[in-house]
Amino acid sequence: MTIKNEQGILPHGGKLVQRELTGKQRDSYLHKLNTLKSLKIDAWSISDLELIAIGGFSPLTGFMGEADYRSVVENARLENGIVWSIPITLPATVEQAESFEIGSEIALIGEEDICYGVLELTEKYRYDKEKEAELVYGTTDPAHPGVKKVFEKGEVYLAGPIYMLNRPNHDDFKDFYLDPSETRELFAKLGWKTIVGFQTRNPVHRAHEYIQKCALESVDGLLLNPLVGETKSDDISAEIRMESYQVILKNYYPANRTELVIYPAAMRYAGPKEAILHAIVRKNYGCTHFIVGRDHAGVGDYYGTYEAQELISEYEAELGIQIFKFEHAFYCVKCENMGTEKTCPHDKEHHVHLSGTKVREKLRNGEDLPKEFSRPEVAAVLIRGMKQNNTD
Ligand code: ADX
Repeated sequence: MTIKNEQGILPHGGKLVQRELTGKQRDSYLHKLNTLKSLKIDAWSISDLELIAIGGFSPLTGFMGEADYRSVVENARLENGIVWSIPITLPATVEQAESFEIGSEIALIGEEDICYGVLELTEKYRYDKEKEAELVYGTTDPAHPGVKKVFEKGEVYLAGPIYMLNRPNHDDFKDFYLDPSETRELFAKLGWKTIVGFQTRNPVHRAHEYIQKCALESVDGLLLNPLVGETKSDDISAEIRMESYQVILKNYYPANRTELVIYPAAMRYAGPKEAILHAIVRKNYGCTHFIVGRDHAGVGDYYGTYEAQELISEYEAELGIQIFKFEHAFYCVKCENMGTEKTCPHDKEHHVHLSGTKVREKLRNGEDLPKEFSRPEVAAVLIRGMKQNNTD
């Protein structure tokens, strides 16, 4: 299978999708908007729409129809056999769905009455929430943040191709917002042939830095690609995280080998299945490699530490993007270095480890994080951010 051409790694499915309308085409839609029926969509669906439109979710050109949906839930593949692990769907209530005619165009409206796009409705279908939760998230526990979302959604999925008319506002991060076609151009301009993508929803701590730099030893460049869409409420906000990324890159990374670009998606916390989605998207952004560490995209104890690595290994050859897998990394006070079980011979008692809960607790109390866990510049940004949040 050809996985690269002269423009770099091929997008998933072979072609980068572009579904944003501009110029006259956009104008003609804007003129007829008031004649269309509309559907109010939330931030999650807006970010899905955006990722379809800018090609991050290539080869998807719209929200999934029933055949693709079933195939993705049951077999982690689109109906045509291409690997795809998480359904990308547009929920609606039964009443809303009944009000729309198959074949009609629906204006997709967000908060503040902005029309983000249009759906050409080809299908509407009911779905089994328990089954989606079990097969995609591996649990039907409503305490799981991704499962909770599934249970809260409308009972019907609307499907069909989409067009984007307005982009969500990313003004806060405008210097770090690039489409997949633009990151591809950037990599070509920089002369990077091999690029490792890094997904994160957290500040970059020493363990992240260690695995990124281990990977960077083998490739030309690192795309730090933090997810900035919806996350659960106790995760650190994207605004604070973006500040922390800039600080760590400035102080500890070679500027000519790292790029910071946002990934404007919602976090599903689907562990192994989401690791596959994350790899596919980074391939679309032009990465040739992708990091999957311990409990990738996990939450609580729902997934085994290396379950995401095990699952993605089954699909790696087909995905075409190479996966760098890392064991749980830590600082060892005896080695005076970062390492993993693979490289450090010392007992656990010598390893510096802080849980996410512990980190948040310390930050809330204005306490510094140990330098073996976090770069001090990063900790300072996080403490300041927490204080600000508390006074807001
Ligand atoms: S995620 O939900 O976005 O995956 P996080 O930001 O914590 O969460 O992790 C980003 C990436 O770093 C994931 O691939 C994850 O598996 C990996 N990772 C996080 N912490 C460690 C660690 N201590 N050791 C090895 N890999 C890690």
